Amino acid sequence: MSKVLITGGAGFIGSNLAHALVDNNEVVIVDDLSMGKKENISDIDVTFYQHDVCDSSFMHRLLSEGHFDYIFYLAAVSSVADSVVRPLETHLVNQESVLDTLEYIRQNNLPIKKFLFTSSAAVYGNYPDFPKREDARVQPLTPYAIDKYASERFTIDYNKLYGIPTVAVRFFNVYGPRQNPNSPYSGVLSIVSKCLKNDDTFVLYGDGSQTRDFVYVEDVVNALIKISHLKIASTVFNIANGKETSLMSIINTYETVSGKQLKVKKEDSRNGDIQRSIADISKLKKIGFEPRWSLVDGLQKYWSYYLSL
Ligand code: NAD
Ligand code: UD1
Repeated sequence: MSKVLITGGAGFIGSNLAHALVDNNEVVIVDDLSMGKKENISDIDVTFYQHDVCDSSFMHRLLSEGHFDYIFYLAAVSSVADSVVRPLETHLVNQESVLDTLEYIRQNNLPIKKFLFTSSAAVYGNYPDFPKREDARVQPLTPYAIDKYASERFTIDYNKLYGIPTVAVRFFNVYGPRQNPNSPYSGVLSIVSKCLKNDDTFVLYGDGSQTRDFVYVEDVVNALIKISHLKIASTVFNIANGKETSLMSIINTYETVSGKQLKVKKEDSRNGDIQRSIADISKLKKIGFEPRWSLVDGLQKYWSYYLSL
């Protein structure tokens, strides 16, 4: 049995990852519950610490006593828009806490098997070269994207410079069960689900022509586990579906799937919002990984989950 630390493990992707790992691993989670929820992990056997990853003495103690084989670093303020409003506070979580953990591992020669950092498609920005390959030019346009890019580079450099087995992934737009819909900064499909279910009005920022590469969370979790076990280190993988969908189009598909109509109110685009996003996933395919969930199937599964709450 391996020992696994998931920071941000009570959040959306982290809790889905914990569910997938818990049968064959000893899982420890640190999450301050700023976005995550205890209910996301209350049905599985994990050790949970409700704590801030920016508290370095707590993290150092945990790392030193935990004897972790794998560390999945997901704790972050995950909203791009929130980082535009609170650049310094989000920086402490999204970059400094990551570097502090890497540095503790280095200084204490902790014998980990893999440190995996979760970066973002946000690092690519708005250059008009699509689909985005991992070696495309980056253009981090927001504090969130800047911190993700810097942390991803630190992660990779800690392998190149110090031999620590690290890898980074850039998620595109992940959706599915356990994403918290209750903040204005929540992921768009969690907000759409809630509005559809409760007949609330959805605020559409911009005209809905902005595109994203939406990927179902189960595919993401499987890709994370596969990448963490690869012998390679010091590299970055896109994790996405490889399909470009406009916000308006996914809303229309979701309306068909749910059999309901979304009430929409339009507002101006959000500051720093990206207009187009689509991934080249050939690097992921080369390691034998194919996303299995189509948009319609993923939305159907998500909608039945949502109705069951
Ligand atoms: P999420 O907000 O559900 O998960 C992040 C978790 O980190 C939350 O549970 C939150 O409570 C926790 N957290 C925040 N600040 C913390 C702190 N100071 N100390 C401890 N815990 C803290 O978001 P998610 O969608 O599950 O994202 C997971 C990771 O993937 C994040 O790093 C995010 O930036 C990245 N990512 C997500 C997406 C996406 O589409 N959801 C896309 C690209 C990258
Ligand atoms: C999302 C993730 C971010 C990740 C990035 C990678 C969240 C909260 N954000 O950011 O962590 O790094 O993908 O691509 O998970 N919108 C509305 N109305 C709303 C909410 C959103 O119109 O109520 C619009 C936004 O303006 C944006 C689009 O929907 O144009 C997607 O927004 P969001 O889900 O926040 O995703 P990203 O900003 O792409």
